[in-house]
Amino acid sequence: MQHRFAFIKPLFRNLALVSLLTSTVLYAADKRDVIIDADPGADDMVALLMALASPEELNIRAITTVSGKVRLEKTSRNARLAREWAGRESVPIYAGAPRPMLRAPVYAENVHGEEGFAGTPVHEPRQGLAHGSAVDYLITTLRAAPPHSITIAMLGPQTNLALALVQAPEITQGIKEVVVMGGAHFNGGNVTPVAEYNVFADPQAADVVLNSGVKLVYIPLDVTQKILTNDARLKQVADLGNRASRVVTGILGEYSKGDMERFGLPGGPVHDASVIAYLLKPELFSGKQIHMSIETHEGPTFGETIADWYGVLKKDKNVLWIEEGDAQGVWDLLTECLGRLS
Ligand code: RIB
Ligand code: CA
Repeated sequence: MQHRFAFIKPLFRNLALVSLLTSTVLYAADKRDVIIDADPGADDMVALLMALASPEELNIRAITTVSGKVRLEKTSRNARLAREWAGRESVPIYAGAPRPMLRAPVYAENVHGEEGFAGTPVHEPRQGLAHGSAVDYLITTLRAAPPHSITIAMLGPQTNLALALVQAPEITQGIKEVVVMGGAHFNGGNVTPVAEYNVFADPQAADVVLNSGVKLVYIPLDVTQKILTNDARLKQVADLGNRASRVVTGILGEYSKGDMERFGLPGGPVHDASVIAYLLKPELFSGKQIHMSIETHEGPTFGETIADWYGVLKKDKNVLWIEEGDAQGVWDLLTECLGRLS
């Protein structure tokens, strides 16, 4: 009797092996290679901590910094601070463009403070910058990358990527997609009545990226102005009781005041964190593939993202425009990520 079912044991052993291998391969396949380009910045700091706390899901190849709300030396110092606070000092940071492609720089120390953020003490981080410029790093890395393998998380003005694309247009081959915090349509602008800061700070750069043909996801003010701080959310982060939670609640406590006063919001946005949340859990968001163009001529609509939501122009649908997000889901995810840090 026994010999008739002798085949079962090795069969189950092999099945277990196959399922282990499959899950490992699938798990590894889920891990996303990412370059984060940022202008830290209060909400950039939160986004960087969130991303650096997620090594199982995000293989952060590098952080590249750009001049934005504060000057390049400050945005670069702040990226190094976030890296140190996250305990991820092996991640290289490359400094990039010290100014926009064409237009004059538009700083926002009035919103983000002289240091780029307020609400927590700053110091000179231990680990320095990587040698070489962010633009050269992007060109070298994207040129050599397997086809469409690297995601770019774009948290500030798009100057670095635009300069790299102008110099080496073939680097699109290495880009999986560019997920941009930027733009505004239904919400209106946060710098002018129609323009959002990241696009307004370098409209020509955003236009170069838009016309490069890369796969683009825009996470605009339409959704980030709906994912706001409130007492319960700040408390759920504070209750973590670690350094990361103290840094984030300190930074957001200060950062929120400006937008709440200026726009009469019930809470403060954490714009850039939504890009990282999208990379980790895209199911928290929804949007539509639409045609979008950018106003690059100086004037009252300079830097406007013209989102053809109803397709009236019948032009190519060149961006995935995110319009809705699960605010509590994003905050729960942010809290989960920060809880992994010291
Ligand atoms: O408009 C919001 C964007 O501008 C965010 O990325 C914020 O960090 C600032 O750079
Ligand atoms: Ca930013």
